[in-house]
Amino acid sequence: MIDRAPAVGFMDSGVGGLAVWREFVRLIPNAPTLYVADQAHVPYGPRSLEEIRRFAGAITRFMLDQGARLIVVASHTISAAALWPLREAFPEVPFVGIEPAVKPAVAQTRTGVIGVLGTFGTLNGPLMARVVERFARGVRVVPRVCSGWVEQVEAGLLEGEAAEALVRQHLDPVLQMGADVLVLACTHYTFLAPLIRRLIGPERALIDPTPAVARRAAEIWQARARGEELNQAEGAIHRFFTTDDPARFQEQLQRLIGRDGPVERLYWDPHEMWLTLSS
Ligand code: DGL
Repeated sequence: MIDRAPAVGFMDSGVGGLAVWREFVRLIPNAPTLYVADQAHVPYGPRSLEEIRRFAGAITRFMLDQGARLIVVASHTISAAALWPLREAFPEVPFVGIEPAVKPAVAQTRTGVIGVLGTFGTLNGPLMARVVERFARGVRVVPRVCSGWVEQVEAGLLEGEAAEALVRQHLDPVLQMGADVLVLACTHYTFLAPLIRRLIGPERALIDPTPAVARRAAEIWQARARGEELNQAEGAIHRFFTTDDPARFQEQLQRLIGRDGPVERLYWDPHEMWLTLSS
């Protein structure tokens, strides 16, 4: 087996996790990273738990094979479906996941109503149920499945009239119910945050957990780096992978986070159990 440089792995169905990746790299520029976007299967939101767990397991095995020592599940939907099963299946691997940021929203609301914007899988998943049960006492939580937003971000429709209309379709009903704090519970939505902020105005707050997740990952990486003398060389290598079209992902990288790639193509085996670098 080739001796790979220890790296931090990031997984998502598509470009959403890039927001977490960008923040992590800003905090620790010299950590080598791997980013896997399973764009052959985006969106994950409407898929079954079993399917998402299978994909997440295969992505994890691939990343471990490529040298990952820490895995950031940079997706609410994957965290909701697969974080616990992943920890059980790979007990030696540290995973950082994301749960809906209900706790800080509850602390900030003045109207007593908070909106949680996410995918079907996240809003109906076990992590959401747990945070609502633990933190939302006395506060009304309005969950909203924002169908179409993941595809919208994948398509790069972040500003302009069409983007605004698509966002309003889910935002307006939540605002009408009196929510004064909104939680972004899907990493793709971070790229819509400037538009959403403009639409909700200064009187309402928007909570994006992306920086907190990146900070948590950075802390774990630094602690491991100290303990294991992980490679902290200047000019860390960042590898990006997609299970769909590398040219398109390269364009998305440039547009969303100002990076050039390069992007490597990944292939699913016919039963969608394994990922490989050649077809
Ligand atoms: N970016 C992901 C999330 O945070 C995945 C969304 C999807 O593929 O539906 O939920």
